[in-house]
Amino acid sequence: MQESIFFKRYSKRSYLDKPITKESLERIFEIVRWTPSCANKQPWRVIFVQNKQRHEKLSAALSRGNEWAAKAPVLVVVCAREADDYSREDDPVKYYQFDSGMATLSLLLGAVQEGLMGHPMAGYDAAGVKTALDIPDEYHVLCVISLGYEGSVDQLDERTRKKDEAPRTRKDIVEIISFDNFDF
Ligand SMILES: Cc1cc2nc3c(=O)[nH]c(=O)nc-3n(C[C@H](O)[C@H](O)[C@H](O)COP(=O)(O)O)c2cc1C
Repeated sequence: MQESIFFKRYSKRSYLDKPITKESLERIFEIVRWTPSCANKQPWRVIFVQNKQRHEKLSAALSRGNEWAAKAPVLVVVCAREADDYSREDDPVKYYQFDSGMATLSLLLGAVQEGLMGHPMAGYDAAGVKTALDIPDEYHVLCVISLGYEGSVDQLDERTRKKDEAPRTRKDIVEIISFDNFDF
C-alpha cells in the first residue's frame, strides 16, 4: 500500500534544475481534466507558468518562507470564480472551491506518477499573483503549486531544510473517521 502514489506524495522544498518534459505535463493536464465536479461544472482554471518573466513575477508574489519555490521549473496557479459555482439553497457550500481542491489533488497525484513533486501553497499575495498572470478580478486564486523533480535537502537554507526534515504527522483515524453517525 505504501508504494501507491497516495503514499509517495509529499510536500518538500528542494528542486533540481531540470525541466519537466512536455509529455509529462500533458499527462498531468489530462488527469486534471478528468477530475469529478459538482454538476460537472469543472470550475478550475489551472495556469502552468514556465515563461521566465512570468515565473519571476509570480515567485515575487510568494510569501516570506516560500522563497524556495522559485527554484521549481514550473509554478502552477489554480483559480476559480463564483460564477462557475453549483449553488445549493440549504447550505452555502462553495462547490467551485471544493471541486478545484479535488483538481489540485489530481494534479499532485498525477505529478507523483510522473516522478515529480508538487508542493501546494497558500502563502502568496493574491493581488500580486493576479497581476503577474493577468488573472481577472472575479477569479479567486486558490492555490499556487511548485512543480519539478525533487532535489537534495543540502541545497536548502538551514531554516527550510529543518522544515523538510521534520517528521510528517497526521491525526489519528478515530479523529477523522466514524461509523454510522457523527461520533468525534
Ligand atoms: C491549501 C494548502 C496550502 C499550503 N500552503 C503552504 C505554504 O504556503 N507553504 C508551505 O511550505 N507549505 C504549504 N502547504 C503544505 C502543507 O504544509 C502540507 O501539505 C502539510 O503539512 C502535509 O504535508 P504533506 O503534504 O507532506 O503530506 C500547503 C498545503 C495546502 C493543501
